[in-house]
Amino acid sequence: MPGPHDTHDLTEADPLSAASLDALVADALAAFAAASGVAALKEARLAHAGERSPIALANRAIGRLTPAERKDAGRRIGMARGAINGALAERQAIVEAAELERALSEESVDVTLPVALAPEGAIHPITGLIELMSDVFVAMGWEVAEGPEAEAEWLNFDALNIGADHPARGESDTLFVAPVGSHRVLRTHTSPVQLRSLLDRELPVYVVCPGKVYRADEFDATHVPVFHQIEGLCVDKGITMAHLKGTLDHLARTMFGDVRTRFRPNYFPFTEPSAEMDLECFVCHGASVGNPDAPCRTCRSEGWIEWGGCGIVNPRVLRAAGIDTDVYSGFAFGMGIERTLMFRNNAADMRDMVEGDVRFSRSLKGEAR
Ligand code: PHE
Repeated sequence: MPGPHDTHDLTEADPLSAASLDALVADALAAFAAASGVAALKEARLAHAGERSPIALANRAIGRLTPAERKDAGRRIGMARGAINGALAERQAIVEAAELERALSEESVDVTLPVALAPEGAIHPITGLIELMSDVFVAMGWEVAEGPEAEAEWLNFDALNIGADHPARGESDTLFVAPVGSHRVLRTHTSPVQLRSLLDRELPVYVVCPGKVYRADEFDATHVPVFHQIEGLCVDKGITMAHLKGTLDHLARTMFGDVRTRFRPNYFPFTEPSAEMDLECFVCHGASVGNPDAPCRTCRSEGWIEWGGCGIVNPRVLRAAGIDTDVYSGFAFGMGIERTLMFRNNAADMRDMVEGDVRFSRSLKGEAR
């Protein structure tokens, strides 16, 4: 180790000699060439061209030379530094280009590769259809009304003129809410919302009431114990059966396109007269009627499909809501949403509608809304 008493023997280990400088340059060039990345080259630059590098130290040694010696030594150092810096710049360009090239190829995206798709949901077709049907009425200025699913027995039956002895009130059809004597039922239709709407609002009333209804039914391809209806009620001055037919024909055309309809006399305690609205069979258009060679499964060779009940609101119902039946009259209807989906979107099995398999919803995406 050099100590304080060492004499500087510039001839023996002269850092400024041509040989020493050549060795320094060779070392530096070798180090630069060996540096394969930007980070390695930075280290090599600090070691061989930095402030504490041998060449920088040699440069400082010039100060110890006589003015005469300085000229030659300065020229040699200058050349050595030029060689080192030139090699460094050259290597720097190569290493940076290589690094850029690698980054570009590593980060490139192959747009043809298959991607892992996040599973996409879909609105349930029943929900979609409820919105679609409600929109038909909202567009005509009607309101959307709702009522509870656990309903007062009085609103579900009595106020709708359904007597205590009516078969629909039996346990075989209706689900009663415990305890016995609560006088609550799971509503068997959306018609109690007719009463609720009349009691809540000023006349005239134009409402549609979509929602769930419950019946003590089997669960199979054509029955479910919980299904959906959309109720309609209009009460105004001078309402007639013509308004009912015009309104429901409009609904049918928006739902099914250019379809023929038929109103067939029926009975409901809360409408008088009452009718069942039928749609001409989409499949056979009546061709199967009386033609055993070409039976139609969709309409059971009847030529018509039952869509829903309707009629002129029974004055008893209006009176139950305190309405003057000499001034006001109305019409009402109730359509099954599941049935509508079956006909409209060819959904043959009602079980698909309750199982909650997103593939069913996706298959009707954009169709039922
Ligand atoms: N509530 C009846 C049913 O569930 C349908 C209906 C509604 C009929 C309104 C007439 C008027 O079958």
